[in-house]
Amino acid sequence: PRTAAVIPAAGRGLRLGPGAPKALRTLSGTPMLVHAVRAMAASNAVSLVVVVGPPDDTVAVRGLLADLALPDRTEVVVVPGGENRQESVRLGLDALPDDISVVLVHDAARPLVPVDTVDAVIEAVRDGARAVVPALPLTDTVKEVDPREGAAKGEPEPVVATPERSRLRAVQTPQGFDRETLVRAHGTAPAEGEGATDCAGLVESLGEPVVVVPGHEEAFKVTRPLDLVLAEAVLARRRA
Ligand code: CTP
Ligand code: MG
Repeated sequence: PRTAAVIPAAGRGLRLGPGAPKALRTLSGTPMLVHAVRAMAASNAVSLVVVVGPPDDTVAVRGLLADLALPDRTEVVVVPGGENRQESVRLGLDALPDDISVVLVHDAARPLVPVDTVDAVIEAVRDGARAVVPALPLTDTVKEVDPREGAAKGEPEPVVATPERSRLRAVQTPQGFDRETLVRAHGTAPAEGEGATDCAGLVESLGEPVVVVPGHEEAFKVTRPLDLVLAEAVLARRRA
């Protein structure tokens, strides 16, 4: 079965602060998106990478990726993204050729995921799982609050519940899917407002099973400025 990776990379990176769209911001001089494309292309199983880029930067992104030295098996396609992640993923799925049967969805904002994690996700899908999510146990205890009360007024938020930490997992990407299942999940869900931030959640909404495999610390998402410091440090350690 031929495997493709769809990389949603069209976000603006508001939480990172002012600057270029997040996927085009650099880590050790290389745009985050380039790290992410290389991370997907590193898997022998991946023969197509669909980059869903910032709509205003499609030409620049094509230029950036045209000159990359990637394995011969790897084809890269760039399409413009949408208003939220869910819409961007759907636009990426629309660009897949017919012979793709396994699809990874990987955030450009997780540029440092190791190839072993990518391969473990693909293997689980090839072994028959329809939706596979890499995830890690939490270190922080998590509380559910009622954000409608308190926060807006600058008051403390009331706690609603404390889920048992040992049962919780923080999910990462690449998430892996049987193509038909993922397309069906995106076809049935409305993409209003923020949309879904997690493709596997849409598959759960279909009532289809989703399984978790071990994630990796280096697959963390670059979201806030401190994450850039960590990402640079990881790259420096790899070079050492
Ligand atoms: N994404 C996308 N299209 C959007 C919004 C997000 O392709 N309209 C992508 C981002 O580029 C990122 C991934 O979804 O690779 C995860 O999103 P997130 O970390 O929230 O990135 P941003 O939306 O760019 O950041 P922020 O929410 O801080 O603006
Ligand atoms: Mg976002």
